[in-house]
Amino acid sequence: MVIQHKELHLWYTNVRTLTPYEAENILPLLSDTERNRYGKLPDAGRRNEFLITRHLVRTVLSSHLSRKPADLCFDNNQFGKPSLSPSCGLEFNISNTCQLAVCLVSFSGPVGVDIEQWSRAADVMEVMDRCFSQKEIQKLFSLPPALRPERALSLWTLKEAYLKAIGIGLAEGLNNVEFLYDSTGKPRLQVDPRIDAQTNRWHFCVTDIMSHKIALMAPFLFRKRIRIFEAKPCPHGQPNVWNILRYEAPANLIVKGNIHESAAIL
Ligand SMILES: CC(C)(COP(=O)(O)OP(=O)(O)OC[C@H]1O[C@@H](n2cnc3c(N)ncnc32)[C@H](O)[C@@H]1OP(=O)(O)O)[C@@H](O)C(=O)NCCC(=O)NCCS
Repeated sequence: MVIQHKELHLWYTNVRTLTPYEAENILPLLSDTERNRYGKLPDAGRRNEFLITRHLVRTVLSSHLSRKPADLCFDNNQFGKPSLSPSCGLEFNISNTCQLAVCLVSFSGPVGVDIEQWSRAADVMEVMDRCFSQKEIQKLFSLPPALRPERALSLWTLKEAYLKAIGIGLAEGLNNVEFLYDSTGKPRLQVDPRIDAQTNRWHFCVTDIMSHKIALMAPFLFRKRIRIFEAKPCPHGQPNVWNILRYEAPANLIVKGNIHESAAIL
């Protein structure tokens, strides 16, 4: 699978209950560290989520490299962001819930992705004082009440996707990053230069996919350069049973309605 220069590929897959046969086929792809993590997960749901996400990442990345999924090695930065080791220019980031796993891939710089179920909007509203700046909260409350939960979820996923793109995660950066919506409903990114000296490189969008809010972040303009694929296992009984069966999603699956993309730095 070829990714053009300054192109983003977004892969998604449903998280569902794995058959024992499927689980047995995924486990050998994992590293010792991953198998260790898998063994410590508290219930079958979390274990499925973990295996499906690992499978998605390894098969997607290997489809872009001449390597087998099980041969891929990863390193984590000090905040836990994984990357391929040795690095080869292929960048990725993942996010998952109990329903959906996504993997964003690019050969043109670091990327970040976050998904949250729509049903989490009320939870985000409850913790907004700790996660959003005064300006973000002011702008949120200037909206009619019915629109606030969705805006809160958009803010949350945008912040997380950005912090994942730069690799520092939530602990270090939540209060240093603002997404301020203008009067046309377009978000603008404002960042404390102490945490990111190259703020003007980022482009982003936030939209909906499969009952989730999703935010994507990349250091290049990708509006017309994003391809979306669903990853599905081959039907049981076929020879390559756990090779990814991919098909390209219709363009309107994600790029619809409420999409914003912007160089967007104040
Ligand atoms: C990264 C983070 C925002 C993810 O939050 P989340 O909503 O629970 O999870 P998501 O499903 O969206 O993403 C999880 C994936 O993001 C990736 N990830 C982990 N840390 C990351 C980071 N700092 N930056 C970018 N991506 C990261 C991982 O691939 C992870 O999946 P995995 O654990 O199965 O490998 C959160 O875990 C965080 O803030 N981590 C940083 C914590 C920290 O500072 N640690 C320092 C000591 S290790």
